[in-house]
Parts: sequence; C-alpha cells; structure tokens
Amino acid sequence: MKIGVYQNNPVFGEVDLNIEQAVQVLTDVETDLMVLPELFNTGYQFLSKEEAQSLAEEIPLGKTCQAMIDFAKRKGDFLVFGMAERDGDHIYNGSAVVGPEGFIGKYRKTHLFAEEKDWFDPGDSGFQVFDLGPAKIGVMICFDWWFPESARVLALEGADIICHPANLVLSQCQQAMTTRSLENGVFSATANRVGSEARGGKPPLIFTGKSQILDCWGQVLTGLAEAEPGVSVVNIDVIQARDKKITVQNNRFVDRRPQFYDALLRPLGN
Ligand code: ACM
Repeated sequence: MKIGVYQNNPVFGEVDLNIEQAVQVLTDVETDLMVLPELFNTGYQFLSKEEAQSLAEEIPLGKTCQAMIDFAKRKGDFLVFGMAERDGDHIYNGSAVVGPEGFIGKYRKTHLFAEEKDWFDPGDSGFQVFDLGPAKIGVMICFDWWFPESARVLALEGADIICHPANLVLSQCQQAMTTRSLENGVFSATANRVGSEARGGKPPLIFTGKSQILDCWGQVLTGLAEAEPGVSVVNIDVIQARDKKITVQNNRFVDRRPQFYDALLRPLGN
C-alpha cells in the first residue's frame, strides 16, 4: 500500500487557495492513502471563537469536504485531512476521512492545545478506526500525540496505520511518535505544516515541519524538511501491523496487565 504525507504552508483564511494548492500538488502523486495537515484549508492561529466559527464548515456537507470527496473520487485515493468543523453551535478541530466511494467518517480532536481551548469545543467523537479495505486506519490530531492513550486506544481498536494531521509547534512530537509506533506496533503518518503565523499582534507560532512516516518498530521510512512544503510517499506492507510480537515470549497486547491500570480511568484527584 502506498501512503503519503503532504506538508503545506497555508495562507490564513484563504480556503479556496489552500484547497487548490493541495489538489495541484497531489494530483500527480500516486498513493492509496494521503494524509494532510491539521486545519490544512484555513491555517491555525484564530483570533477568536467567532473567527473560527466563520471559517468552520460542516463535515461532510461543507465546500472543503465536498471538494476533497470529488478529488478522492477522481484520484481513486483515500484522503485524511484536518479542518475546523461546524456542527450547529459547536466548533471542533476536526479531521475527515474520504475515499473513492465518498465520505467515510470524521474525528474531533480530543486533546486541545493552548488557545485551541478558546476556539474549539473538546472533541466528543472518541477515537475511532475506519476500515478502508486495504488497511484499518485510526485518526488522531496533533497534540493528541502527547497522550499515549490516544495511539494505544487506536491500536487496540485495530488500527494498522495512525493518520496524524498536525500543526506542530512543539519540537518533541516526531521523536515521541517513534515510541507510539514502536509500543503499539503500528505505522504512523504525521502530516505537519511549515511556516509561521503571528496574527493580531500575538507571539509568532513557528510550525516545525518534518512530516514523517514510521514503520511498526518506530523506524523512519520517510521524512520531510523542517521549513519547506513537500510531499513524500512510501510503500508499506500493512500486514506487519497485525503481528504484535516483540520477542518469542512477548507480545505488545497480550502482555499488558490491565488489572493494574485502574489509575488510567480514575479522574484526577481520586
Ligand atoms: C497542536 O496541537 N496543533 C499543537
């Protein structure tokens, strides 16, 4: 299976331009599954909830999702991309999964980072796995990486590949994802952005690039530059993610001792 990551530098608020750019860059890139960044169509640094609201769209009925469905159908490709989702009065930092047959599903970011808490509602979708046929994929968004439970739940739910749209501003994620892939025995595809935003006199946010695809042992199969947009594709054997063996006597999932993990489910302070 050919999977890819698209690394962009969107112009804030220029949704049509950002979609057009993605379509232009990806049209001749042959893949089965392409992962695009978080908020790939709008940019990241909103000034208010109202601004986020004005740029958010319904999934799948909004124009961004419809454009990406058309593109996926034309290309015969699966696409995972991040965008602000509007659902009634609620705004989510969302991701959509679309494919040659149309809309497949969506995810709403669970762990909001910094000012995102002012712009978005906390995601209520929970972690989900989508069966694409050639692979089962799980979706998490950017800062979800900080919480190992995100990738663990996706892996336990059967994900072969973790698709990870991101707008990273912290430097540790790429390295942390090697552990997420290793401990769960899954491929991961982190699609980050480059460039910076300093809107409304706010301190600049510098996005860290270095999008990457990792194998089930956390090895880097391909990686992009820190500051340049780009796209990269690798061929993977999805079946490798179904073997959770570590040694002859150890297995990533079977060796877990969940009876000793109660603290994971306890609210803080109890
Ligand atoms: C982030 O979660 N976009 C830093």
